[in-house]
Amino acid sequence: MSNRTFTMIKPDATEKGHTGAILKMINEAGFRIVAMKMTHLSRQKAGEFYAVHKERPFYGELVEFMSRGPITAAILEKENAVEDFRKLIGATNPAEAAEGTVRKLYASSIGENAIHGSDSDENAKIESDFFFSKLEQF
Ligand code: CMP
Repeated sequence: MSNRTFTMIKPDATEKGHTGAILKMINEAGFRIVAMKMTHLSRQKAGEFYAVHKERPFYGELVEFMSRGPITAAILEKENAVEDFRKLIGATNPAEAAEGTVRKLYASSIGENAIHGSDSDENAKIESDFFFSKLEQF
């Protein structure tokens, strides 16, 4: 069972000033922050992070959006972290997200959906290591 996941509070949520409220939801749901930084991805870095979606029609739009402004990246620890965090953030499309989830509250569209959460233990590790060195993971 996984006990770590990776998240990013995306540029749309940062612009709207929702970072603090989202971090509060994360803490109250029982996740421990074991790494965190605010940063601004270049187009190059956003493209690398989402390389798995390179062939998708929305890839260009996704890279533009993710490099539009600052994000907050974090590694979170909790029993069953990947699955529980995806429940907390809700469906990718906010129109389908359950009441009380981060995306229901703060996302505006499938593209500008406020927050990212890893979809597997393997990707949580890859994504965490993309942003944080070993010395920055507590
Ligand atoms: P995320 O969970 O970060 O992982 C992939 C991202 O691609 C997703 O959130 C959305 O921001 C974006 N995405 C997925 N599907 C679409 C779509 N149909 N149109 C635009 N962006 C999308």
